[in-house]
Amino acid sequence: MEIRRVGVVGCGLMGAGIAEVAARAGFDVIVREVDSDAVRRGRSRVERSLGRAVDREKLSSEARDDALGRLSFTDDLSTLADRDLVIEAIVEDLGAKVALFEALDGVCGDHTIFATNTSSLTVTEMAARTARPGRVVGLHFFNPVPVMRLVEVVRTLATDADVLESVVSFGAALDKEPIVAPDRSGFVVNLLLVPFMLDAIRQVERGVASVVDIDRAMVGGCGHPMGPFALCDLVGNDTTLRIAEIMFDEYREARYAPPPLLKRMVALGRFGRKTGQGFYDYSGDTPVAIDLGSG
Ligand code: CAA
Ligand code: NAD
Repeated sequence: MEIRRVGVVGCGLMGAGIAEVAARAGFDVIVREVDSDAVRRGRSRVERSLGRAVDREKLSSEARDDALGRLSFTDDLSTLADRDLVIEAIVEDLGAKVALFEALDGVCGDHTIFATNTSSLTVTEMAARTARPGRVVGLHFFNPVPVMRLVEVVRTLATDADVLESVVSFGAALDKEPIVAPDRSGFVVNLLLVPFMLDAIRQVERGVASVVDIDRAMVGGCGHPMGPFALCDLVGNDTTLRIAEIMFDEYREARYAPPPLLKRMVALGRFGRKTGQGFYDYSGDTPVAIDLGSG
């Protein structure tokens, strides 16, 4: 089945990036957010990112205008009725995602494929709650979506072979590198990456080294593009906490348990770049590490 019309639900960090790359690749894209304020914020997130690509001479202004012409934004779920593929990128919460797919079941045609950008939830649990379990997959993009090459396509026990094939082709059409991953919490990347990020936080809790020194160590010593704390702030500490709780619940292994410091950061609203403060403060020209005191 050929995918031409795409819906994206949620236009935060990930949804905005997914909508952008789909529109840039020539797909007709409708983006749905919860209300008019969220629609406005989502639209400006996409516009800023496209503007940045033009400034960096990675995109011509004509191509930006064409991409914007293929994008529309709404708070009305029923506009997704004619979509071939709907990708959800809302909050990492099973109840919220299931409620969304149940609503979409009543809105979309029988042919529509549902995809979830979940980081850690079980795709099968979402598929089982729809009237189309064979047409539900995971489609896990990486942050920042316009830059990261990989996309994990998650097959459940119920996914139809032709649906999997269509979604892998869609990933390739976005100029991404799709890999097929099993429906295990964390898929391939997060199974390794999340314990690494959580472990970095535990090392700070233990007083092994500071946030800045651990970040410097992993950049200078291992060639990582950014250290684990800068990465936590990029992903969002709220999202990382939810992911850790879900993975710990799934595997009951200490390596996935959310460290207390992460919980305290989230309690204070220090989600990272998206709130202006996380392990670093982003109010100035360059990020400055925040004194964590005794934690
Ligand atoms: N949107 C679009 N493009 C962006 C961008 C964004 N948000 N951020 C950076 N870029 C682009 C820049 O335009 C630039 O492109 P050019 O070199 O072609 O001009 C390039 O990326 C490098 O950007 P910068 O020079 O500004 O900054 P940098 O060199 O420090 O790179 C980074 C920034 C790309 C984020 C890099 O630090 C990096 O790769 N970090 C690791 C990111 C990572 O690990 N992501 C995975 C997160 S985990 C996840 O996504 C899964 C999950 O479920 C939680
Ligand atoms: P975010 O908080 O930046 O954005 C979520 C957006 O969804 C918000 O704008 C919110 O208004 C919107 N939303 C919530 N309920 C909605 C609904 N019913 N309909 C429409 N919009 C709704 O979160 P994010 O970082 O973009 O994460 C979204 C999903 O992507 C999560 O499942 C997360 O685990 C996953 N993910 C995140 C990252 C990352 O690095 N942040 C990477 C890969 C995957």
